[in-house]
Amino acid sequence: MSSDTVETVRAVRQIRRYDPDPVPADVLRRLLSVARWTGSSKNTQPWHFVVITDRALLRELSGLRPNINWLSRAPLALAIVLDGTAPLSEAYDEGRVAERILVAASALGYGGGVGFWGDESQQATAKRMLGIPRERTARSFVTIGKAISREDPRGLRRGGRKPMEEIVSYERWGNAATKRA
Ligand SMILES: Cc1cc2nc3c(=O)[nH]c(=O)nc-3n(C[C@H](O)[C@H](O)[C@H](O)COP(=O)(O)O)c2cc1C
Repeated sequence: MSSDTVETVRAVRQIRRYDPDPVPADVLRRLLSVARWTGSSKNTQPWHFVVITDRALLRELSGLRPNINWLSRAPLALAIVLDGTAPLSEAYDEGRVAERILVAASALGYGGGVGFWGDESQQATAKRMLGIPRERTARSFVTIGKAISREDPRGLRRGGRKPMEEIVSYERWGNAATKRA
């Protein structure tokens, strides 16, 4: 892996403002292929992806809660649907697949974002809107599109990151780095 590739991975951020142009079919196909090949607990592949490009539907879904209002302007969203049989490992697998899609989108020159539909009743509404069976878990989505800005349209300040010393210990919890990182 080249250092440029590593930098692409490091620099992946949440994009919430997109050009309305459709995401080309070959880009979507490649992202879905990345999703399909993501590793999962016991290789259960507990996922299904609903590709959403319909503007009215995206607008309706974006109204589920204010924190995802930017979804209405995304050209494409993938609703992540899980089998709903193994909550812990499925949550882990869901995070892995979402992040891989974001990283792959970035590598292809696209921006991506993740979001939650909301609480159980909002999840149930999203499932109804998308025709997802009730017994499945559907709580998150990934948006994809060309980024027109990295600003947060909700007016929230962009976050930096905690310092390295705060998040890493060596050999034992609380042992700070000396000259290692
Ligand atoms: C599990 C999860 C749920 C998220 N849900 C939302 C959401 O509902 N709405 C939203 O705008 N961002 C959501 N985000 C995005 C986070 O706010 C974002 O990853 C974080 O602020 C870091 O953004 P940055 O990498 O651009 O600094 C979610 C992220 C994760 C990992």
